Amino acid sequence: MTTLTIHNLSAGYGPIEVLRDISFSVPQGSICAILGPNGAGKTTIMRALSGLIPIRKGSVELNGARIDKLAAEQRVRKGLMLTPEGREMFPSLTVKENLLMGAFTQPKARFQEDMDKILEYFPRLKQRLNEPTASLSGGEAQMAAIGRSLMARPSVLLLDEPSHGLAPAIVERMFAIISKLNKDEGLTVLIVEQNARQALALAQQAYVLQAGKISLSGASKDLAKNQAVQELYLGG
Ligand SMILES: Nc1ncnc2c1ncn2[C@@H]1O[C@H](COP(=O)(O)OP(=O)(O)OP(=O)(O)O)[C@@H](O)[C@H]1O
Ligand SMILES: [Mg+2]
Repeated sequence: MTTLTIHNLSAGYGPIEVLRDISFSVPQGSICAILGPNGAGKTTIMRALSGLIPIRKGSVELNGARIDKLAAEQRVRKGLMLTPEGREMFPSLTVKENLLMGAFTQPKARFQEDMDKILEYFPRLKQRLNEPTASLSGGEAQMAAIGRSLMARPSVLLLDEPSHGLAPAIVERMFAIISKLNKDEGLTVLIVEQNARQALALAQQAYVLQAGKISLSGASKDLAKNQAVQELYLGG
């Protein structure tokens, strides 16, 4: 069974068509990566999937049901949640307040239980809970952004360049947590990355996006050996 299926999707901005006839799927319980250079359209895919921009053609299905006409908030209710590029936290609000922002679809009775569980995955946030997000390091802020998304109890988490601007050791720690969430909670993950080496190590399956089209796809371990991928993204 496939969780997320994208069929012949086209999307863009005004007269510009960024994505052209893209098809791919994210199997239930998997971690899939989309790799690609600046401007390839990675964020545009995330926006189209989460309902922040309309699609022009094609379809997006979640568990066999079309979601591409639903408002962004309704897609969150169906289990699809985005951690956006650049995190988009409220800097003057505390970590706790930011986490609660993610729970807007959930009954209040779940807040404490869900937050406690998330803090077990991200123990560093425990000490920072009552501090403004602006005071966090880049790595802590990214973990808080992922934690906020988890407060919506997603079945599919969309991560847009979570490693951006972070040191490799921090990325490794964060990816280990994502991997644990995938294994222990059955969380399905679609991650967009320019950091190909670490993304291919995290994901089972990957797609390479170039100029709005998927140019390569396959098992991560095969793509990591692919000559074009090595030359483009892995420094030869
Ligand atoms: N709001 C917008 N209006 C018009 N064009 C846009 C808008 N956002 C992005 N674009 C254009 O769409 C194309 C794809 O952008 P997108 O942000 O999806 O790329 P990306 O792969 O996420 O890049 P990056 O790695 O820099 O995040 C680019 O040419 C970009 O200039
Ligand atoms: Mg982007």
